[in-house]
Amino acid sequence: MLLKTVLLLTLVAQVLVLENGLLRTPPMGWLAWERFRCNTNCKVDPKNCISERLFMEMADRMAQDGWRDAGYTYVNIDDCWIGGRDDKGHLVPDPERFPRGIAFLADYVHSLGLKLGIYEDMGNFTCMGYPGTTLDKVVQDAQTFAEWKVDMLKLDGCFSTPEERAEGYPKMSAALNATGRPIAFSCSWPAYEGGLPPRVNYSLLANICNLWRNYDDIQDSWRSVLSILDWYVAHQDILQEVAGPGHWNDPDMLLIGNFGLNHEQSQAQMALWTVLAAPLFMSTDLRTISAQNVDILQNPLMIKIHQDPLGIQGRRILKERSRIEVYLRPLSSKASAIVFFSRRIDMPYRYHTSLARLNFSGSTTYEAQNVFSGDVISGLQNDTNFTVTINPSGVVMWYLYPIKNLHMSQQ
Ligand SMILES: *[C@@H]1O[C@H](CO)[C@@H](O)[C@H](O)[C@H]1NC(C)=O
Ligand SMILES: *[C@@H]1O[C@H](CO)[C@@H](O)[C@H](O)[C@H]1NC(C)=O
Ligand SMILES: *[C@@H]1O[C@H](CO)[C@@H](O)[C@H](O)[C@H]1NC(C)=O
Ligand SMILES: *[C@@H]1O[C@H](CO)[C@@H](O)[C@H](O)[C@H]1NC(C)=O
Ligand SMILES: *[C@@H]1O[C@H](CO)[C@@H](O)[C@H](O)[C@H]1NC(C)=O
Ligand SMILES: *[C@@H]1O[C@H](CO)[C@@H](O)[C@H](O)[C@H]1NC(C)=O
Repeated sequence: MLLKTVLLLTLVAQVLVLENGLLRTPPMGWLAWERFRCNTNCKVDPKNCISERLFMEMADRMAQDGWRDAGYTYVNIDDCWIGGRDDKGHLVPDPERFPRGIAFLADYVHSLGLKLGIYEDMGNFTCMGYPGTTLDKVVQDAQTFAEWKVDMLKLDGCFSTPEERAEGYPKMSAALNATGRPIAFSCSWPAYEGGLPPRVNYSLLANICNLWRNYDDIQDSWRSVLSILDWYVAHQDILQEVAGPGHWNDPDMLLIGNFGLNHEQSQAQMALWTVLAAPLFMSTDLRTISAQNVDILQNPLMIKIHQDPLGIQGRRILKERSRIEVYLRPLSSKASAIVFFSRRIDMPYRYHTSLARLNFSGSTTYEAQNVFSGDVISGLQNDTNFTVTINPSGVVMWYLYPIKNLHMSQQ
């Protein structure tokens, strides 16, 4: 009997592996929530309310201002788009704010070479109180999204029990798969279960979701960025290994271009999220973003690192008493991304170190390119002492790659 149960569980586990082939590298795009929230007052604020106009204008900017070509391809709707259900139970968007419907919006963004993401909630209501996807509606809603030609679904977890979520997320994954349309699946499930084993089974998640939120929503402040980073670092032994091509940890949106971060902090969030192989979802007004913030978000070397094909999530490797921290992400071709991060609040800090201190060994000679300034530092060996000057709450980020291996070349 016990053996039978084990066999049955194994079968169920295998059935749940629904590899859709999507997001081999972490996704990049734009998501409405952090900047535009649940602003539904289109009479007073027509430019910024959650409406088809907002998503079409962002899609226009993404196609025309270099975002799409840099890799930011998803235009994602969050909460507050739903108008209700029709008499057959199909979801319908708010008729005043989305008069031409979601299929129209999907066609529009597709015509610009972009992809459309949508939002629902596994539960009685969305977090803002709109109709949710209850267990009996999972299959129908998946079919609706596929008919509309949606490319990503973020499924939130408000107004449901742990048992309903445990049934509903795998069920939605199977229902999306059954539509035949490749739809990336973003699961908020772990964030509702504390984000850690044993309540969260990350092997199961990696089989059914392409990305997942583990922790609190980001807010427009540096303190919020630090609290998320602290949680990720505290649990990096668990989190690092569960990320990989097709399945990513999501520490939530980028704040760059909004109100809470200064220039150093904006660079720091970009660098740290890149080293964590996090999804890069901007949530800012692309109609008014400054050139300085565009430079941070469209930095080609940063994006090359972010999209590295190995898809290894980086981690903090060193925490100094000076309040300097070092993060490292291994990259293809024996390269690495290194972020020197200062938690100091006094002045630029001259940090003296060497690759040996960062646990590099052997006789390889490296070169480093500073990701923000473009400066190249040559001839780095494991015992070469070097100094990086890091501003308060800022970063220095290096792309480090071997230029020759003395031992090999002597052979
Ligand atoms: C559904 O899952 C199967 C098995 O992993 C996979 O081969 C197929 O491509 C998936 N289809 C979609 C549309 O995700
Ligand atoms: C969802 O709605 C049903 C039916 O009204 C109710 O019985 C249930 O308690 C609700 N669940 C949650 C988690 O609010
Ligand atoms: C987690 O899920 C996987 C895949 O479904 C399963 O094989 C494994 O037994 C689960 N682990 C735990 C601790 O429940
Ligand atoms: C360097 O390696 C040693 C020995 O394996 C280990 O104890 C230490 O934590 C490592 N340090 C870093 C910065 O990875
Ligand atoms: C550092 O490199 C030198 C050669 O440049 C080599 O002799 C030495 O073993 C290396 N140290 C470590 C820790 O690998
Ligand atoms: C690097 O600095 C350390 C002290 O911080 C010193 O002991 C060592 O000799 C220096 N190495 C080189 C190659 O200059």
